Amino acid sequence: MIAWVGMNDMDKLVSLAKRRGFVFPGSDIYGGLANSWDYGPLGTELKRNIMDAWWKRFVTRRDDMVGIDAAIIMNPKVWEASGHLDAFTDPLVECKKCHTRFRADQIDVAKACAHCGAKDGFTEPKNFNLMFKTFLGSTEDATATAYLRGELAQAMFVDFKLVGDTMRKRVPFGIAQQGKCFRNEITPGNFIFRTREFNLMEFEYFVHPDEWQKHFEYWLQEMKDWLDFCGVKKENLVFHEIEDGERAHYSARTVDIEYHYPFGQKELYGLAYRGDYDLKKHIEASGEDLSYTDPVTNQKYVPHVVEPTFGIDRTLLIVMLEAYHEEEAPTAEEGESATRVVMRFPKELAPYKAAVLPLSKKPELSGPARELAARLRMKRAVDYDETQSIGKRYRRQDEIGTPFCVTFDFESLDDKAVTVRDRDTMKQERVKIDDLETYLATQLGF
Ligand code: GAP
Repeated sequence: MIAWVGMNDMDKLVSLAKRRGFVFPGSDIYGGLANSWDYGPLGTELKRNIMDAWWKRFVTRRDDMVGIDAAIIMNPKVWEASGHLDAFTDPLVECKKCHTRFRADQIDVAKACAHCGAKDGFTEPKNFNLMFKTFLGSTEDATATAYLRGELAQAMFVDFKLVGDTMRKRVPFGIAQQGKCFRNEITPGNFIFRTREFNLMEFEYFVHPDEWQKHFEYWLQEMKDWLDFCGVKKENLVFHEIEDGERAHYSARTVDIEYHYPFGQKELYGLAYRGDYDLKKHIEASGEDLSYTDPVTNQKYVPHVVEPTFGIDRTLLIVMLEAYHEEEAPTAEEGESATRVVMRFPKELAPYKAAVLPLSKKPELSGPARELAARLRMKRAVDYDETQSIGKRYRRQDEIGTPFCVTFDFESLDDKAVTVRDRDTMKQERVKIDDLETYLATQLGF
């Protein structure tokens, strides 16, 4: 029997994430900091694997894409030109009784306050800027004011010419980036879904103005294929075409990719056609010529942009939600079964690819088993565990989604073979130690 994480099971996932070292509450020993989270050792591996898989797929393996890693604090003129200082706002209202603040577009202001229950009403909406302010150097005044980036995109526009020229790229081509962004969200929450510092991966794909529709369709399909690779079921996704009037004024088409989270249908990723809005704004504000001359036709134009954007934390969240399974599985006791929790991560994303488990802690087994783990680790992340019964160790590896458990037993000393257990089928196979590396490579597909 298989049970998916249902609408009410976020608590289960948050609990597993903490118990197994994926995600911890931030600043925990000081009572935490609201809506701040730390990735633990396994969450860090999972996040890196997501980021690496994305980078390989969209940057390294492509001829038309290059990456950058820009500064988080940019010249404030960037944010002025991009419109962030004026328009990167959410409408904020405040309960007249308890003064709790809400996003006006997320509550019904005719109803009681969700925090204190009072029906005293809310203040008129006012725009609240989401950019995080800081000061450069020792003077804390307007001349020293700077901002932590609210998105990655602006660096790709600002560096467009430098990247295009140094890498001799011809339109169409893209500039990709991964990294932290900061937004002073009014209502963060739902675990790592909405936080004030978060991880983003996105690219700006520069195209000829007449060809944006074709590229838009192409990237929409690429985003679907990426989600398939992440193990996301199609029925959990909604491709929401943003209507006229709802889109940014410069965008002729935007698709929000939404997901059925246990807490409701909400945004996961976005795909936006941004026209030449950003490059033109930076041309006006900086005085630099950011246009492109086609070397074949000699046509000079400001490229248009298609922007696929992927929240990393939201990717990790849905990868965990999709991977989570509970099922009845036989125990070591004859005829008995128990509920096993298994994270069926796509193998490329799993924090560990294999775990080496000696049947006993005795040095004659633990010695060669440790050596085997060390050898396998040269190629991929491998856990080693010699504590508790083998059944409990299997359950732990299931809960952290390790695709293969490699059991080293007393027979291994004679037959130079180990038992390999498959996470998903729980089938066991005897494999020669000399063949193990090839076996894993074949089974994992990498
Ligand atoms: N450059 C375009 C851009 O930044 P966005 O829709 O504002 O677009 C991109 O953000 C993605 O970043 C979202 O689709 C979502 O995955 C993620 N994201 C946005 N705000 C977030 C937050 N407060 N916490 C976690 N992820 C967030």
